[in-house]
Amino acid sequence: MSFTVAIDGPAAAGKGTIARAVAAHFGFAHLDTGLLYRAVGRRVLAGEVPVDAAQELAPGDLANPDALRSAAIADAASRVAVIPEVRAALVDFQRAFAARTGGAVLDGRDIGTVICPEAAVKLFVTASAEVRALRRLNELRAAGHDTDFETVLADVRLRDARDAERAIAPMIAAERAVILDTSKMSIAEAVAAAIAVVEARGGAPRGD
Ligand code: CDP
Ligand code: CDP
Repeated sequence: MSFTVAIDGPAAAGKGTIARAVAAHFGFAHLDTGLLYRAVGRRVLAGEVPVDAAQELAPGDLANPDALRSAAIADAASRVAVIPEVRAALVDFQRAFAARTGGAVLDGRDIGTVICPEAAVKLFVTASAEVRALRRLNELRAAGHDTDFETVLADVRLRDARDAERAIAPMIAAERAVILDTSKMSIAEAVAAAIAVVEARGGAPRGD
């Protein structure tokens, strides 16, 4: 039987961290759907294809997620993500993942609204732009990127606006989504809150 947990929200809110932990706790599979858009964005950025042919690349090469974590690729991802054909090319893969037997957690921007409107659990994970920018700054610095708080904050705000204002599959909390503001939460607190929501919706650890 399938059991889908949909996690949406803005950049660096903690979606991926929560999704990974929830998946590990319940024994579900996890898909970071942002990587699909980042993979397409990387190839457009590298000049491998023009942006209007980006859909031909989907679902993209996910061999090395770490190489997809830069700010430039995040920006390119959000530019290709406004193209209807790119989004359409990625739908089947995501829906098939969501429907897999044994439970699945998907995180992104449109999981609870477009990819999986029937998800058993919908979470919209958010935090203030400043908190998110600081988290992302720490991550980028740890990965060796030379950047500063103001630059990261501006990037986060620009990308949030592009994601929230696009015509197709905009980032918005789905109906029935539980909003989780992690601004003042530790990772452990945010993960515990998410697990409690999943349990309240009937999620149980998978018995192998
Ligand atoms: O997936 P998303 O972009 O929403 O965020 P993430 O990659 O899960 O989290 C971004 C960064 O914030 C990571 O380095 C997390 O360790 C950190 N984080 C945090 O400090 N406190 C939280 N409550 C959640 C995440
Ligand atoms: O980790 P972070 O939250 O910063 O970004 P991400 O989840 O890797 O997503 C990168 C970009 O891909 C987003 O800014 C969106 O433009 C796009 N995206 C999307 O449109 N729909 C999704 N389901 C996931 C990502």
